[in-house]
Order: sequence, then structure tokens, then C-alpha cells
Amino acid sequence: MSKFEILKKEEFVPNFYKLDIAVPGIAKKAKAGQFILVMVDKQSEKIPLTILDWDEEKGTISFIVQELGLSTSKMAFMEEGDSFYSIVGPLGEPAYLENFGTVVLGGGCYGVGAVFPIAKGLKALGNYVITIIEAKNENLLYYEEEYKTVSDEVILVTTDGSKGERGHIYDVLDNMIEVQKRKIDHIKVIGCNVMMSKVSKLTKEKGAIPTYATVTTIMVDGTGMCGSCRLSYDGKTKFACVDGPEFDAHKIDWDELIHVRNTSYITEETLGLQNFSPECRSLAKYQERTKEEEAS
Ligand code: FES
Repeated sequence: MSKFEILKKEEFVPNFYKLDIAVPGIAKKAKAGQFILVMVDKQSEKIPLTILDWDEEKGTISFIVQELGLSTSKMAFMEEGDSFYSIVGPLGEPAYLENFGTVVLGGGCYGVGAVFPIAKGLKALGNYVITIIEAKNENLLYYEEEYKTVSDEVILVTTDGSKGERGHIYDVLDNMIEVQKRKIDHIKVIGCNVMMSKVSKLTKEKGAIPTYATVTTIMVDGTGMCGSCRLSYDGKTKFACVDGPEFDAHKIDWDELIHVRNTSYITEETLGLQNFSPECRSLAKYQERTKEEEAS
């Protein structure tokens, strides 16, 4: 197998792909909660992706890609046997794991997969693990069976109510705290910033239950040098790539993170995606077209 080669590609549910990649160096060092920076080709931006699983013996890692913007669309068009231009990692601090007691984990969108190594780690440390996974509808839910192997309870929630409970992770949590009066010692969430900010607001109001969130930020170098992943945290500036990506959710300035930081490149992203147009939706054709444009 060659470096950064895709050994296996699976489309779990529409637009969500699990990729197994040959990267022995990263497989040797990875820890739950860490991420990699991936470049599809020489022209690509660097996309941060949480490491889902790793196998030190085989020298492989797995991650989940949600086809959303330009780079993730390019990834979706790659096939088994194709190789990435570069993969750097493992980056970031590992997630904060110990025997907390009863832990609730919430994963939405790409976080449905990303929370898996954390569930595995917390279960191994003797916690009672309750995992809530959220999707818009039943067709977008995945990893239910895998979670049953590392959780004491798995709760499914869909926005339209087509499977499990209707609503969102914070609705399930609200019910557990207010109605069921369950004792929760620690909460961790991974998914979109809006969902995590709502969980944070809820748990702060309900007696400040310790809540940790893995933030989603724009990243460029991943080493604390460029500043693109900065966030305001407890009145100070922090960098998601080296100080995180997991933070105490109650200390994050969520408004700034959602409305200012993560919309910085929205114009470039939209234009890039338009360029990767339907008639050009293959990586080879896209690369050809980019070369022609650079030469002209
Ligand atoms: Fe550049 Fe974090 S990605 S400082």
C-alpha cells in the first residue's frame, strides 16, 4: 500500500463516507479526540477531521467525511486505491477522559462518528456511558450497532421523529435532567457549533453540569501559528488546533465562534464549490480544469 492511500471507502448514509487510510505513523500515536489535517491535492485547503479509529498493527486510521463544501466534495469523489496529497497528525490535545461516573455523549452530523473513540475510551475507564446520536431523519443515522458495543444506553433522536425520539440532543438532555431527574456527572458533545452551544446553555442553566465540546473551526496550519482557529475562551484567546479541539463548553464565546470566526471564508468557499460544478464532478476533471486555469 502506498502512503495516504484509501484502502476502503464506504458510504454509510447519503453524503457521509468512512475512509480507511494507510498512515502507520499516525496509527501508532493517535488518541481519542485528536484530529488530522487532510489535503486532497496540491491546490486544496487543509481540512481538519477527527480520527474515528486506528489500528496500530495494520498501520491504518479511519475517519468520516461529510460531503459539504469543496474539499469534502473532492474527497467524496475519490476511490479506493487513490491517495491523498498529504495527511498530518495526530494533532490537538486528546479528549479529557477519566472515570467521571455517568457520562452522556452527544454526537450530531459528522459528530455521530467522531464521538465513537471517546465512548470507547470512557467505557474502558469504567464509566456508565449514555450515547445520544442525532440526525435529521432515519436515513442519516449511522453507527448505532457500533455504539451498542461501547455504551450502556444508546438513544437515537431525529429532527422529524422518523426514528427514535423527535427533536435534538438538547431536548433529550433536558428531559433526562428535568423529567427523569437523572444524575449526570459529565457531558461531551461533538457536532455543529449551534447544537453544541445550545447544549452548553442548557447545562449551564441546569446547575452547571460539566460539559465539554469539540469545536469546529477553520484551520490552516494546525500548529498554533496562523491564528485562523482562534476562539475566545474564558476571556482569553485560545487556538483550537493546539489548546483543543475539546474545551469546557461553558467558557466558550459561542456567539463569536458561530457568527464571526466560522463565516470568514464563506465567499471563497461558495465560489470554489461553484467551480466544482456538476458537469465537472470528478476529481480528475476538476484537477485538469484547475491546471488549465493556472496556465492561462
Ligand atoms: Fe492555525 Fe490553529 S490552525 S493556529
